[in-house]
Amino acid sequence: MTKGLQIQNISKYYGEGMNRLTALDRVSIEVGPGEFVAVVGPSGSGKSTFLSIAGALLQASEGEVKVNGNSISRLSARELSSVRLNEIGFIMQTSNLVPYLNVLDQLLVVKRMGGKVSTADKALARQLLDGLGLHSKLKSFPESLSGGEKQRVAIARAFVNNPSVILADEPTASLDTKRAYEVVNLIAHEVKSRQKAAIMVTHDERMLKHCDKVYHMEDGILSLVQ
Ligand SMILES: Nc1ncnc2c1ncn2[C@@H]1O[C@H](COP(=O)(O)OP(=O)(O)O)[C@@H](O)[C@H]1O
Ligand SMILES: [Mg+2]
Repeated sequence: MTKGLQIQNISKYYGEGMNRLTALDRVSIEVGPGEFVAVVGPSGSGKSTFLSIAGALLQASEGEVKVNGNSISRLSARELSSVRLNEIGFIMQTSNLVPYLNVLDQLLVVKRMGGKVSTADKALARQLLDGLGLHSKLKSFPESLSGGEKQRVAIARAFVNNPSVILADEPTASLDTKRAYEVVNLIAHEVKSRQKAAIMVTHDERMLKHCDKVYHMEDGILSLVQ
């Protein structure tokens, strides 16, 4: 079984007939465990569409996505949501925290919906938040956090289920340079220390030195830069 993420020849069309738009044009990529890949490219080139398909949020029109060797192209809605929950950690441009939950509960809410939260779950959540410098913020609500702190909570939330694939869509877009470096360093550390397969979409050339490979997206076509 091949670990990590394998994307084979995916295309995505929006609309039909004369209005059909090719958002992705036969995109292929493999990202192995411990590999941190960046995708750069202009606005509207298909980067978010690509990441959404890689993360089982959106279905491709053609082609195949495999997570740890298993195709997710023909799964039921229920099976897809299980893949998203257990295999994929998503980090978005804005942190999308739940306003009425404190920091610790942001990480535990999904577990809570799925049943009981164990002592081990709580310990892991605390450990992750400690590691991200948020130990004094466990009981804080999002409105009292800075942009950087919110984004770190979102990162901890993406890591808490120990997913094998991490997908980040412009995770530093709302941060200053120092915070941006911190965020990318944290992702890189998780990728290397726990052997995750990670893809980060970014506009920020300065962040690329943390990545193993850089791909360019243009008009839905993905190509390797370095
Ligand atoms: N849900 C949608 N319906 C129709 N067109 C879409 C939809 N989402 C994105 N697009 C179009 O697909 C292209 C790629 O968009 P997107 O993946 O968001 O690019 P990027 O993230 O690189 O800015 C754009 O032309 C965009 O307008
Ligand atoms: Mg986008």
